[in-house]
Amino acid sequence: MATEQSNSASLLSHNVETSQLKVHRIGIIMNGVTGRMGTNQHLIHSILSIMKSGGITLSDDSIIMPDPILVGRNHIKLAALASTHGLTRYTTDLDEALKDSYNVIYFDAQTTNRRVEAVKKAIEAGKHIYIEKPIATTTSEALQLYELAKEKGVKHGVVQDKLFLPGLLKLQRLIKSDFFGSILSVRGEFGYWVFDGINDGGIIPQRPSWNYRIEEGGGIIADMLCHWRYVIDNVFGQVTSISCLGATHISERIDEQGKKYEVTADDAAYAHFTTKNGIVVSWNSSWTTRVRRDDLLTIQVDGTKGSAVVGLRECWVQHESVTPRPIWNPDNDNPLDYKENWTKVPDQNARSWDNAFRVQWEMFLRYVVTNEPYKNDLLEGAKGVQLADLGIKSWKERRWIDIPDL
Ligand SMILES: NC(=O)c1ccc[n+]([C@@H]2O[C@H](COP(=O)([O-])OP(=O)(O)OC[C@H]3O[C@@H](n4cnc5c(N)ncnc54)[C@H](O)[C@@H]3O)[C@@H](O)[C@H]2O)c1
Repeated sequence: MATEQSNSASLLSHNVETSQLKVHRIGIIMNGVTGRMGTNQHLIHSILSIMKSGGITLSDDSIIMPDPILVGRNHIKLAALASTHGLTRYTTDLDEALKDSYNVIYFDAQTTNRRVEAVKKAIEAGKHIYIEKPIATTTSEALQLYELAKEKGVKHGVVQDKLFLPGLLKLQRLIKSDFFGSILSVRGEFGYWVFDGINDGGIIPQRPSWNYRIEEGGGIIADMLCHWRYVIDNVFGQVTSISCLGATHISERIDEQGKKYEVTADDAAYAHFTTKNGIVVSWNSSWTTRVRRDDLLTIQVDGTKGSAVVGLRECWVQHESVTPRPIWNPDNDNPLDYKENWTKVPDQNARSWDNAFRVQWEMFLRYVVTNEPYKNDLLEGAKGVQLADLGIKSWKERRWIDIPDL
């Protein structure tokens, strides 16, 4: 076991007060930080980015400054990651990191099936909890984490990054300003081609192999339906029922060691949802589709007064007053350019959009330090797991399923 702790005096006390500035230093245990999400989104684009920009400003004379300790299995990888980013705190010993009262938040971006055990330990150690989705592999375990956190009185949150993407923020603003009139239906298309490494002449697959093994917590239904749950609940209306068809379209892939393995998890999901306010939602998720649309995720919203197509960063709208009048006639060349008469929603905020993960980290850190309201908690995370569980049940039983309140 290797444990390195910061020798920088400025990092040793929780709150440092100088004559000008009060600094709330927050030790954050980052477990699974050598993975794709851990390194890129959470360490580089969120925590390091906050640190580099001077912390989070609370007032003229007080800031929050996060201080990560990197946790993982592989000492060499951790040391390399730490040194690349000028960090000194890293360890392969989670229990040691949990014992240290300087660390007040436990963050987890490990593979999904390792999450529950580690989060339980962290709650037991009295740490505030902020974790990747899905928060567990079953609804009952997810609810158990929520109950444990509540009992222990620690603060808790789940990553719900899609809500903070520029495209989705623009959409939420359109809904607030009643652009759509009555929203009738929503069509989500998510996905792209993930190379299998076999039939494509050895192109390296761009997702980890555990995603394609159900026994390791993989599967696109488990992975994506928890995202669609919070998007639909928060943006359109509470999800009330689901019908889902899963599929494993590609049965063999190449793993990180170049070895062929059998795919045991679903790699595509074709789902329908209804909402409490009567909106019909259909949503495809696929790692086996090639993209000829505006973005890797597009959401088309059709309302009585207007429609929108939302991508990760952009949003295009068409008002009823400029809606063309197509007439079905396959015998003639099409006279209409269907992409005309759509307007790109401008960046009205007059500032560059912050990374969605960073936005949410800032919210959670403010919640921990100043008790600002924070609603993306473990109960919300459990709802995502519930939708995935019921999606799989719907597929296996070939039927619609109502979603009970949690
Ligand atoms: N919010 C999002 O948009 C989003 C996107 C992708 C993934 N995720 C979630 O993030 C989590 C990580 O996904 P990823 O794509 O970064 O995966 P990854 O395989 O790149 O990383 C997984 C991490 O877990 C660690 N790990 C794996 N097996 C372990 C073991 N036996 N013991 C200890 N550590 C182990 C790895 O070392 C690595 O640090 C998953 O739960 C996934 O659902 C979220």
